[in-house]
Amino acid sequence: MNELLLTDDERAHAGARLVALLDSYERGLAEADILPVPDRAQLAGLLAPMPDKGIGLDALFDRWEDVVLPGSTTVAHPRFLAYVLGPPNGVAPYAEALAAAINQNCNFWQLSPAASVVERSVLEWLASVVGFPAGAKGILTGGGSLATLQALATALHDRVPDFHASGLQRDHAPLVVYTSVEAHRSVDKAAAILGVGLDNVRHIATDDRHRMDVSALRRAVEQDRRNGLRPWCVVATCGTVSTGSVDPLDAIADLCSDEDLWLHVDGAYGALFLLSEGMRELMGGCARADSITLDPHKLLYAPLEAGCLLVRDGAKLRDAYAFDSSYLTVAEDPLMTDYMDYGPQLSRSFKAFKVWSAVQAFGVEAFRSANERTLELAQRFGRGVQEAEGLRLLAPVVLTAVCFSVDGVEDHASLLEELAAENVALLGPVVVGGERGVRACFTNHRTSVGDVDLILERLRGRVAFQARGFAPDPAN
Ligand SMILES: Cc1ncc(COP(=O)(O)O)c(C=O)c1O
Repeated sequence: MNELLLTDDERAHAGARLVALLDSYERGLAEADILPVPDRAQLAGLLAPMPDKGIGLDALFDRWEDVVLPGSTTVAHPRFLAYVLGPPNGVAPYAEALAAAINQNCNFWQLSPAASVVERSVLEWLASVVGFPAGAKGILTGGGSLATLQALATALHDRVPDFHASGLQRDHAPLVVYTSVEAHRSVDKAAAILGVGLDNVRHIATDDRHRMDVSALRRAVEQDRRNGLRPWCVVATCGTVSTGSVDPLDAIADLCSDEDLWLHVDGAYGALFLLSEGMRELMGGCARADSITLDPHKLLYAPLEAGCLLVRDGAKLRDAYAFDSSYLTVAEDPLMTDYMDYGPQLSRSFKAFKVWSAVQAFGVEAFRSANERTLELAQRFGRGVQEAEGLRLLAPVVLTAVCFSVDGVEDHASLLEELAAENVALLGPVVVGGERGVRACFTNHRTSVGDVDLILERLRGRVAFQARGFAPDPAN
């Protein structure tokens, strides 16, 4: 007997309970609390000492239902619109279950032959979506932040002589990385982690549409060169986290080529909108980057975690990460890839499976139209804000982020709390150009026109209440 396995009967029972649980979860989503108030006592109960004798399957499933689910944020609720977070698609949980069962180690191909080809297929497809050439290579990562970290490490290997041997320990002038004031914190974080240092990150000003000001970028590069520093890399953003603005990618790519700078595009939020041909004009410049971050756990609705790094010249990615190790050698194979040579991890999960399975099952068109729907919902919401008295857009609606403020509301945090407490919506806080407000980010394939209209109605009601509350008494 093996205590770590289920019997045939138990397996059938576990399967039935899991299927029932997934089914009732999906059916209950729209009515669920978006932000359940956690039962602290129950959660604290999870800290009880681990049982020496197991509680068994049924008690475990009961605990999932009674404690874990009620204490979990309903990110798939149609009116969960805070942050850039895509809820999972319908196929992903099943793919995740099988990935756990086969437990492929996606480090070298002998331990994961099919997985290695599946990952390659996902990466080649994503490279074609971005418009990268055939020599591009990439790797799936734990998210957008890690993809950017891994990209900047690749850029260091490529641009800093002897980086592999000496790192940044040689007595060279500081390297400088340029990004905009609207860039995601992951850029700063990567620079700090890699030893470039926050003092050497230039946050370039943006124009009136929150896009990197290319003239200011050029001036900053020139000034740093004059001061004896080493301009090294530009991180442009395709879909900034607050307003969804897209930096002028072509102009930045021209500058990077004039100045011999590595161009990384952080496309974690926006670049997968390139699934729609109509977005080429706005973000086609992604194709000119040396490397790009994508985030399948956002616009491909893969469950966490699935980020992606693509590098235009795949040899540069391999140069940064391939190490000889006598105990891990398998003959190279033209079909299979050893992903340990394309990133920092050795043991790696089969992240590509959930992405590939969903695209196979639903087709690319389904993802394209889900994303187009979110773009339309954001436009509808933006129009609603513009037309409503007392609501004010804080930034143009370019992608799916809608930033606005409510006249007379000093403290938008309490408005967010009210909306969440009434289960109207979970929206997020934002600061645009120093002004505080609220952000609805439509990265949820379950959100409908009805959801948008319901939130707008509630906001209009809030404005009317605000006006009544502060209006002078007509009797006086
Ligand atoms: C523009 C941008 N870059 C990077 C990230 C970080 O991605 P992740 O949370 O997958 O690490 C985000 C997350 O929202 C983002 O919007």
